This record gives sequence, C-alpha cells and structure tokens, in this order.
Amino acid sequence: MIGFCYDCKICDGRACKNTIPGPGAKGIGEGAIDNYRAWKNIKINMDTIGEHFEPDTSFDFFGSRLKLPLIAAPVGAVKLHYGEKHTDESYNEILLSAAKKAGIIAFTGDGTDPHVIKGACEALKGMDGFGVPTIKPWDNATCMEKIDMALESGAKAIAMDVDAAGLPFLQGLTPPAGRKSVEELRKIVEHISSANSNIPFIVKGIMTPSGAIKAVKAGARAIVISNHGGRVLDQCPPTAHVLPAIVKAVRAYELDMWKSNMAEQRIPEANSSDEHARMGMDPTNIFKVNVPGEENGIFKVNVKRSGSIYTADASDKVKIFVDGGIRDGIDVFKALALGADGVLVARPFVNAVYNHGENGVLNLVDKFYRELKDTMLMCGAKDLKSIGMEQIFV
Ligand SMILES: Cc1cc2nc3c(=O)[nH]c(=O)nc-3n(C[C@H](O)[C@H](O)[C@H](O)COP(=O)(O)O)c2cc1C
Repeated sequence: MIGFCYDCKICDGRACKNTIPGPGAKGIGEGAIDNYRAWKNIKINMDTIGEHFEPDTSFDFFGSRLKLPLIAAPVGAVKLHYGEKHTDESYNEILLSAAKKAGIIAFTGDGTDPHVIKGACEALKGMDGFGVPTIKPWDNATCMEKIDMALESGAKAIAMDVDAAGLPFLQGLTPPAGRKSVEELRKIVEHISSANSNIPFIVKGIMTPSGAIKAVKAGARAIVISNHGGRVLDQCPPTAHVLPAIVKAVRAYELDMWKSNMAEQRIPEANSSDEHARMGMDPTNIFKVNVPGEENGIFKVNVKRSGSIYTADASDKVKIFVDGGIRDGIDVFKALALGADGVLVARPFVNAVYNHGENGVLNLVDKFYRELKDTMLMCGAKDLKSIGMEQIFV
C-alpha cells in the first residue's frame, strides 16, 4: 500500500474504486475503471508488409521537443492521498526533473494549501521553467495571484483544471473554487499576454464538443480531454469515447475561423502552391488541416508571413490532449489514432515516484516509449502524423 493506494501492478481503478481521500473515483467509483476499459476495448490493426524504418516518436510541445507525446499529469495533495513519504514539494521536485531527464514534461497540481503551487513554481525556477503549473478554478483574484507566480517561474505553459470544482475536498472552502465563465477564462488569457508573455494557456477537464469550443473561444491554445480520472463527477463517459467528437468539433471550428479570417484579409484561395506563387504569395506557407472523419477535410490556405496579413501554420492548431486510464504506449497510439495530439498520465507516475524516485519515472517513460515505437513499427506508422483510424479496430 502507498497510503490509500493499493499499488497494483496495473492501475485500472478497481482496487481503490471509490476511495477518496485516496486515488479512487467519486460516487460509485467506476469512472477510472471505465476510462481504463475503454482504451483496452480498442484493438490494433497490424500490418508488417513494407520497408523497415525507425519510428519517429518525437513531439513538439510549444517549442520544446519531447521524446514522445506523453506528459506526466498534475497530481495535488499527494500526502493526503498517498501518505507521508512525500509532500507536494518533494513529489513535484522529483517528478519535474525526472520527467525532463526522461525527455517528457510534467504538469504540477494545486491545492487548498497555497504552498503547493508556490513550491511547484520554486522548483520550476531551478530548471528553466520546464513544467506546467496547473491552477484550480479559484475566484479570479486568487487565480491571477497564482498565475503571476507561474509566470515568474518561467513555466512553458500554464494550465487550469476547470473541472476541479467537483472535487469533494474542495467544495465549500475558502478561497472558493467553482465554475468559470468564458469571460473569466478570457481575462486569464489576457492577463498572461499582458505580462508580455507568449505562454500558452491550457484548459484541462473538457468532456464535450461545446466545452471545447468555449475553451478555444476563451483563448486556450490546448485542451485536455479529462474527467479527472472519475474524481469530479460520477458516471461520466470514458474519455476515449468523447475524444473523436471533440476533435472533430475543434478542427471544424478552426477551419471556419481560418476561412473567415481569410475572407476578411482577402487572401485568395487556390488549389496549388503554383497558383499561389503566381499570385505573389509564399508557397512554403501552405499547410493542411485534417478534419478526422471528413472526406473533404483537407483545407489549404496560403498566407503571407509579414505585414498586417493573418499568418497561420499547422503549429497554430489548438493542441488536443487526453487523459484517463492510459497505461501503455499502445493506448497512446490509440489516442493519437482517434485524433489526439498527445496524452497525459497521472496515477502511474505517483507510484513510480513513491516506489523508485527518479529511476521509477525514467523506467516508466522508457516503457511507454518502447511500447509506442513497437506499435508504430508493427502498424507501419513512420511518425506521429502517420498514425490514423485505419490502424485501430473499434
Ligand atoms: C490523487 C489525485 C490527485 C489529483 N490532483 C490533480 C490536480 O491537482 N490537478 C489536476 O488537474 N488533476 C489532478 N488529478 C487528475 C489527474 O491529473 C488526471 O486527470 C486523472 O488522474 C486521470 O489520469 P490517470 O487515469 O492517468 O490517473 C489528480 C488525480 C489523482 C488520482
């Protein structure tokens, strides 16, 4: 046992079920079990006829190159849930630096104790800000204070778990945590940019297409599809089930935005880079937007790099992450096939840190890396963008 955690070989949500405090899920406690099961119900279509290649698993996280599209998810109040061995400070310190060493990045959690976020930001300062503080949806004044701390730490991005309002141990406390309007979220984004910072804001805890669009409208540069591992509301669908519809809605929304921007800026549409070159536009700026499930989803836009004309490229796309029950590199492959850009994993990282410290994290990341690489090779996917629906069996 690690506190209330049964330290199971496979963290599938069954043993701890509805144990909170502890790593379990809320209510009848099946949320985490359902998340895990949904990934396992998706199967893989292998095809080994073709040339040999070395799969490229590398992933761009807002300018930082990660070894694979895996992120250690935020876990707060570790002492309460997992016992005395670590405080949030010591947990985050080990996790942040071990994740960096392993070639990935970690998010840190937040709690009612103000030292949690403060400790995380202090730890981040010592390592070029290589991490993502995740702030709970407090009243905006408290959020701004915590965001200032995160900005000062040089963090690579700042996240907010908007679903945390449902956490049993956060309800009815001071400062209050609760629902956030689009306007409040937009103010947070403006606050970040007014600090002269290009740091992306990430909204975690999205479970519907409309929730995703609201986050994007507020200015989020990434969303995390998450039901908080079943901890904030009983009987939510598994994240694997809601992922495709959310991807489709976000990509379609972006497409509309780009189209209308293009009309506003009078950027002519063209069918080929040659045609654009003839119009005096830079053909190297062509990019494609793939809307999963839409046959005509390839959309080309040419934009000039300079002046008042709108510029956009593939990196402007909102990043879509997903978490909940993802336990191996094969699950990562499935998430990418369903349209996610990357995944977050939470509970197994806590077990890794509590049991083996830095080495535990290094081994866990290596396991995910080897499994993802193997699956890509067996399915003929040279790189992450070659992973698609045809390689999974749903
Ligand atoms: C004990 C515990 C504490 C958590 N604390 C946070 C937190 O502070 N902030 C947050 O955004 N998510 C928190 N989460 C949710 C995780 O980041 C993640 O969304 C969820 O556990 C699903 O991933 P998993 O199935 O890989 O654990 C916590 C989860 C657990 C189990």
